[in-house]
Amino acid sequence: MKNIKKIGIITGGGDCSGLNAVIDGVTKSAIRKHGLEVVGYYRGYHGLLNNEFMELDLKKASGIMHRGGTILKSSNKDNLFNYRVQNEDGSFEHKDVSDVAVANMKKEGVDALVVIGGDGTLTSARDFYRKGIPVVGVPKTIDNDLPATDVTFGYNTSLETITDALDKIHTTAHSHDRIMVVEVMGRNTGWLALEGGLAGSADIILIPEIPYDINKVVEKIKERDSIGKNFSVVVVSEGAKPKGGEVTIRETVEDSADSIRLGGIGDVVTHQLQKLIPEHEVRYTNLAYIQRGGITSQFDRALGLQFGVKAVDLLMTGNAGSMVQLRGRKLTSIALEEVVGRGETGETSVGGAKHVDPNGQLVETCRAIGISFGE
Ligand code: F6P
Repeated sequence: MKNIKKIGIITGGGDCSGLNAVIDGVTKSAIRKHGLEVVGYYRGYHGLLNNEFMELDLKKASGIMHRGGTILKSSNKDNLFNYRVQNEDGSFEHKDVSDVAVANMKKEGVDALVVIGGDGTLTSARDFYRKGIPVVGVPKTIDNDLPATDVTFGYNTSLETITDALDKIHTTAHSHDRIMVVEVMGRNTGWLALEGGLAGSADIILIPEIPYDINKVVEKIKERDSIGKNFSVVVVSEGAKPKGGEVTIRETVEDSADSIRLGGIGDVVTHQLQKLIPEHEVRYTNLAYIQRGGITSQFDRALGLQFGVKAVDLLMTGNAGSMVQLRGRKLTSIALEEVVGRGETGETSVGGAKHVDPNGQLVETCRAIGISFGE
């Protein structure tokens, strides 16, 4: 394999906490442990296509680990293997422009890439590897829906945010005897709602894996009323759906590997509940992007740093074409070929989605302490 002297970092897809910790780990270990040069491409593959990058050194990589988001910025479009270009007559067509990216890397002497992202971003990473570029992938998501790793950075920070928000929302719920509906992210999986709701004392949790019956939600609220608990907190995962019904789609984004954006089910549930229980005021809060931002938790900092260091080690030991993963407490790797490219099957995550088991330990714990899933 080609001697690697200079590497490039790419952050693609939605941002999350821990990305800067990975950039820190990659940059510092590449320089200190392997004597490499490092550049960071701006806005994911957009930077690779337009040759827009920053040189990363020990100074630039320090003091960033705790910060949310990515100092390199990100893009969830820009699939260079199927890139939307405008013709002179104003019409659009899709072209493979990946050769331009490869030529840019050659011009700048960038020998290899560490690509941090979800399914869309890592599918392109695999495609660059197929073109002969040494690439290692680092999986990221706040949704905890990747089967190819036990956990990713970002999830823990989001859970902390959700739990904190639920603690705060309880104050108004209690003072005004209200029903507070809180929508959280998670795509087609209910991990954020389930673990955040459990820790944040939710009374009802609606998740995609357990389609709900709104009348059962009402029953639970009335049961609480009857024991003097005149308020309830309902956590709704953005992918939740009623029995026999569909998910609520906020928008469809063209040119994105994950084109369907969920959102709004919390509003739907709020309106339904307001009609069915007029004796209560029902209020709706969507935590939305608050869940993706802020200061990175200790867990996500440590995991991001470890993923970053491991990614460079993999590149430098002839293991390009792989993705870092965590199994138990051990960092290992898996071939990109085995885990990416499921976007087209409708499962918008690396290796298909890892779903909540409707009869698993976490759900049973909730049921045992009286949390309803609207079943
Ligand atoms: O996958 C991470 C995530 O934050 C999901 O939880 C959410 O559905 C989606 O991304 C939102 O994406 P966007 O930033 O495009 O609105």
